[in-house]
Amino acid sequence: NGVEPVALQETTSASPDIQRQPFVIGVAGGAASGKTSVCDLIIQQLHDQRVVLVNQDSFYHSLTEEELARVHEYNFDHPDAFDTDLLLSCMEKLRQGQAVDIPKYDFKTYKSTVSRRVNPSDVILLEGILLFHDPRVRALMNMKIFVDTDADVRLARRIKRDTSQNDREIGTVLDQYSKFVKPAFDDFILPTKKYADIIIPRGGDNHVAIDLIVQHICTKLGQHDLCKIYPNLYVIQSTFQI
Ligand code: ADP
Ligand code: C5P
Repeated sequence: NGVEPVALQETTSASPDIQRQPFVIGVAGGAASGKTSVCDLIIQQLHDQRVVLVNQDSFYHSLTEEELARVHEYNFDHPDAFDTDLLLSCMEKLRQGQAVDIPKYDFKTYKSTVSRRVNPSDVILLEGILLFHDPRVRALMNMKIFVDTDADVRLARRIKRDTSQNDREIGTVLDQYSKFVKPAFDDFILPTKKYADIIIPRGGDNHVAIDLIVQHICTKLGQHDLCKIYPNLYVIQSTFQI
């Protein structure tokens, strides 16, 4: 079948009691590129695993009254718009097997008022426009995916989303796009594409890429599972890689 087993490796060091770290997948790309859709498709296919999705949007700073009064001058696409220290501390806890409360950000009020409890999982999908910007966040990831969708497609989707879901005027959406979104994509998001292990054109429409990613995750988790249950087992490693 073209996939040759290359190594028989004795795994004597693993113990059934060892707390294994979750497999962390970072999914970055422009706004409305299809990051969430890609994550949803991966989660659907990983139905046998414990998977959790964490959005970088949850870590937006809440706006002060002063900032709210001049909201059209606020740059939501700049790295400083996010509380990255809080994201790092939440991820650290999840990696150590602890549950965390992650803020829920409201795009209409520009504030986080409530939070959601996230339990530790086998796979953590971390999704957001600027996830590859900070090297400390990149260092958390076992796999980095960049969703690459044309700018006109992203803008069309954004207009639809912001006018229908977020009750914004089309003029406001277009002004924000030319003033902040496009320049920040060019200055901060696109340059992080080089950190990706995998670049997915066409986002959620690219079923071949999603199948390959899911196969890779299952391979990684399967090896872990075998080591965990049978510490002295000989594991056949496959050459298959994306
Ligand atoms: P992101 O998480 O990158 O902002 P989403 O996955 O939320 O992107 O997609 C943004 C918007 O575009 C959503 O309204 C979604 O329904 C729509 N969308 C995403 N992928 C597709 C697609 N392949 N075809 C049509 N609409 C899509
Ligand atoms: O979900 P997505 O990755 O598209 O979210 C990021 C986008 O959300 C950014 O481009 C930012 O401009 C936009 N945003 C917004 N209003 C907010 C917070 C973020 O338009 N209050």
